[in-house]
Amino acid sequence: MRILLTGKNGQVGSELNKIFAPFGEITATGKSDLDLSNPNQIRSVVNQIRPELIINAGAYTSVDKAESERELAQAINGTAPKIFAEEGKKIGAVLIHYSTDYAYSGKMKNNPYIESDLSDPINTYGKTKIEGDKAIEQAGLPFLIFRSSWVYGLDGKNFLRTILRLAKDNNELNIVNDQIGTPTWCRSIANATFKIIKQLSKNTEIPFPEIVSSFSGVYHMTCEGETSWHGFARSILKLTEPSCISKLTAIPTKEYPTPARRPTYTVLSNKKLYETFGIKLPHWEDALKYCLKVTS
Ligand SMILES: NC(=O)c1ccc[n+]([C@@H]2O[C@H](COP(=O)([O-])OP(=O)(O)OC[C@H]3O[C@@H](n4cnc5c(N)ncnc54)[C@H](OP(=O)(O)O)[C@@H]3O)[C@@H](O)[C@H]2O)c1
Repeated sequence: MRILLTGKNGQVGSELNKIFAPFGEITATGKSDLDLSNPNQIRSVVNQIRPELIINAGAYTSVDKAESERELAQAINGTAPKIFAEEGKKIGAVLIHYSTDYAYSGKMKNNPYIESDLSDPINTYGKTKIEGDKAIEQAGLPFLIFRSSWVYGLDGKNFLRTILRLAKDNNELNIVNDQIGTPTWCRSIANATFKIIKQLSKNTEIPFPEIVSSFSGVYHMTCEGETSWHGFARSILKLTEPSCISKLTAIPTKEYPTPARRPTYTVLSNKKLYETFGIKLPHWEDALKYCLKVTS
């Protein structure tokens, strides 16, 4: 299978790039190979490679910066997925795409969101991502959208790395405790994606796009459990720098103003993913231990 992967330097994309070789020939792209804000370049690369599977792990993920770079965020998160879906449809490709818990505001619920809940994003990043999701849903090609949350890993820009850096510098840590969600290790997302593609591609009698077509849709894909950013920070410190826990203070969101508003509650139910593919990601605390290589 010919595969076109975007976001090869990102958290999820780099993990996918490490493990997807068994499925065939991967053309892994970063911003310098394929600029997602350039629709013509997307068209040209898709038509040149003619992938059977497009995995779009590239995205504009700077939630706060998106408020002042709305057009760029829209081009990368809203328009690029649309072009991949349109071009993919023309050549009979399957599209895998990633979405975000910031699809939801948290205003409507205090129990886990399910895929049929209405999306009501409250910041530009969330709005542009939802535009991308909708464009894919409308394009009519076989697709899987995996919606995740609070993604972290040992590389890249993420909350885990920020806390480790602040702890190392011996800083006071004032972290919000009234935003609730689920930290998800980027490797858990890549592994789950791998297992799903393995399942869907093992049938040699029915063409891969036809099989994917019968499963097309949005699937929540996060680790299990829930916590606040403060709870996440506490667990990170407990596993790495326990002496810094005393420097950790819980604060309300109103004491930590940011350019982009954040939803208060975005825990996602992974029931559909489990019932459809039999796949469950680890509990977030276990995933954090695996990520940090804490074995006890
Ligand atoms: N991060 C989270 O907390 C989170 C939460 C929920 C869902 N998600 C979703 O999960 C997916 C993967 O996220 P991630 O955390 O792996 O993101 P990430 O680490 O920020 O990686 C995104 C990648 O997109 C690339 N990119 C940005 N602008 C580009 C452009 N104009 N052209 C080509 N590539 C460009 C970046 O390349 P450069 O490094 O070269 O700039 C980066 O490697 C995304 O769809 C994201 O929306 C993420």
